[in-house]
Amino acid sequence: MEKQLNRDIKSVMSEFPEVGIILEEFDIGCTTCGVGICLLKDIISIHDVPKQVEELMMKRIEKAIYPERNIEINIQSEGIPQQQSTKTELIYSRPMKMLVDEHIVIKELLKLIPDVCNYIVHSQSIDRNMMADIIDFIRSYADGFHHAKEEDILFPYANRGVDIIEAMEMDHIEGRGYVASMIKGIKANDKNLLIESLKNYGTLLQEHIKKEDEILYPWLDRILNDEIIDEMNQRFIATDASFDNYNRKYVDVIEKLKNKFA
Ligand SMILES: [Fe+2]
Ligand SMILES: [Fe+2]
Repeated sequence: MEKQLNRDIKSVMSEFPEVGIILEEFDIGCTTCGVGICLLKDIISIHDVPKQVEELMMKRIEKAIYPERNIEINIQSEGIPQQQSTKTELIYSRPMKMLVDEHIVIKELLKLIPDVCNYIVHSQSIDRNMMADIIDFIRSYADGFHHAKEEDILFPYANRGVDIIEAMEMDHIEGRGYVASMIKGIKANDKNLLIESLKNYGTLLQEHIKKEDEILYPWLDRILNDEIIDEMNQRFIATDASFDNYNRKYVDVIEKLKNKFA
């Protein structure tokens, strides 16, 4: 089993598909993660799996990988509701809560993407003012402000479990690619390219935010000490001050877009 624990989860799931099914049952979404560079042994600590649940889950995984070993699962599983077994209420430190609150603003934009796409389909030409607002939101707020805080301040504090940080950085890069495609679509008056890029960006960011809110931030809150958290908090406050009330400014951009589709 030691050998399997040190393999990346995607290759384990591809060789033993039942492992993915078991993880899903325990509400650990490695099958839909899309990156899967975490090692099997990291899944427990990154997802903060309770001890009793961990034993049951790992026995089942071991049994799926080594059916010939006749592994007995005699752990008392009654009373462990599997679907919610790994869910605990998320309480964030102050700096993580700031990032979660920024996600709430970004998710407001993501929610509007179906309306935006529908509007583009039914418009005679691409509404360049609307798209300028959306691209400014994505580039200035989601990327230049929020992702920059993660990349410049948050991620460097995580000197353990770098795989998950790399995965988050890869998502940021992929998102920038979709924005470049949006701009290409606008310049070429190519509605299909613009819509496809908007949808891809929306899907990517929804998943990305879920991973950060539910996995990365809680995990960092567990591994970083109070001194580091406090230092990070001060750095976030200083960054926010230098961005001249960005939160208010981009909440207003969302309101403007909402009014357009009301
Ligand atoms: Fe991120
Ligand atoms: Fe984020």
